[in-house]
Amino acid sequence: MKYKGVKGTRDILPPETDIWRHLESTAAGVFQTFGFREIRVPVMEETQVFTRSIGETSDIVEKEMYTFTDRGNRSVTLRPEGTAPVVRALVQNGVFVEHPASKFFYMGPMFRYERPQAGRYRQFHQIGAEAFGIDDPRLDAEILLMLTVLLDKLGLKNLDCQINSIGCPQCRPRFREAVKAFFAERLDGLCADCKRRYETNPLRIMDCKVPACVELRAGAPSVLDHLDEACAAHFRTLTDTLAHLGVPFTVKPTLVRGLDYYTRTTFEVVAGSLGAQNAVAAGGRYDKLVEEFGGPKTPAIGFALGVERMVSLLAETAPPAPRPALFIAALGEPAALRALSIASALRKSGVWAECGYSGSLKSQMRRADKLGARFTLIIGDEEVASGFAQLRNMETKEQELIGLDEAAKRFMD
Ligand code: HAM
Repeated sequence: MKYKGVKGTRDILPPETDIWRHLESTAAGVFQTFGFREIRVPVMEETQVFTRSIGETSDIVEKEMYTFTDRGNRSVTLRPEGTAPVVRALVQNGVFVEHPASKFFYMGPMFRYERPQAGRYRQFHQIGAEAFGIDDPRLDAEILLMLTVLLDKLGLKNLDCQINSIGCPQCRPRFREAVKAFFAERLDGLCADCKRRYETNPLRIMDCKVPACVELRAGAPSVLDHLDEACAAHFRTLTDTLAHLGVPFTVKPTLVRGLDYYTRTTFEVVAGSLGAQNAVAAGGRYDKLVEEFGGPKTPAIGFALGVERMVSLLAETAPPAPRPALFIAALGEPAALRALSIASALRKSGVWAECGYSGSLKSQMRRADKLGARFTLIIGDEEVASGFAQLRNMETKEQELIGLDEAAKRFMD
């Protein structure tokens, strides 16, 4: 019987895993300098954690969640995103009581039943960051700065950071009415989903990717013209601070995002080169979510990077794959044992060494080549007896005689 991975999932093999590690460790390093600490939450939650926060009428809740009833008759959902579980965990663990202003990051798999295509999977991975307890727009600017620093460190260029404000529950109803009025005469031309959204959640029409809807949107009201004074001032300070910090951005008034918990600032980082699925990171403020989850009044902002999309951008700029410092080819039993001791001394001190074990010298050297070993040491009975062997630099092809007792030390600094 032959098995295949589940549709929409991917196996991640070397050398791609090297790029994943590089991305994860670079992100963790940058986040640390901004005061973020790691949080790990389960991959499954009670279904309501998502339906209540992301929104009953969102695409994710309506058609993309992996929801099942467990053997105890509970409705459980594989997390489609990380923000709601993080908020649930922080409220449940009373973190906001002691640390009202705190910052967290996370990495891990998310699950959405979407139509798989390049850059879109059913199991995908996010690296996310969430900051709590500060409603000052200068924090929003810092979050975007952190993203820019990370993208710069990774050597990624030509990314567009698009920002918007979608206001607050006080001013959004006015915008909602304006959108409804605008589309009232255009209803016939909208896609079936948007016809439904017109009744349930008209702002989402602004985010629809169907070409007919995109066309009909031309001239639609801008959310930025409908913000109340406090939200408008918040957005102004954000754009002023970004300019002050030298963070490049574009204001995109149609950026409404597909999750219901957002308030005020929303943003997306887009890579033109990625085609249809071009958002590599996205996020925004969610000032009401902690309270909705039963926690204290705690404003918040965060984002998540799509790891698969980042990795495909990184494929060209990532550092070269690691190579063993030394490959030891061994001919005969005493030589194989000697090779093992040299290799284990090196490994204990953190240096990558490989052994040939047995087989012809030719096949062992083929393996050394395949692995890209920088040096090789060839040990046979004679070398064991004399205590000396040839060390070969695989790049320059130079050879030198080296004492077997010194061989390991040579690679240790
Ligand atoms: P999101 O926009 O749904 O936001 O997802 C964030 C990123 O995850 C996207 O920009 C994309 O790169 C990646 N992504 C989403 N779905 C897929 C998929 N099916 N396949 C591959 N990559 C995907 C959130 O999830 C929010 N929780 C972000 C956030 C954090 N907002 C505040 N804090």
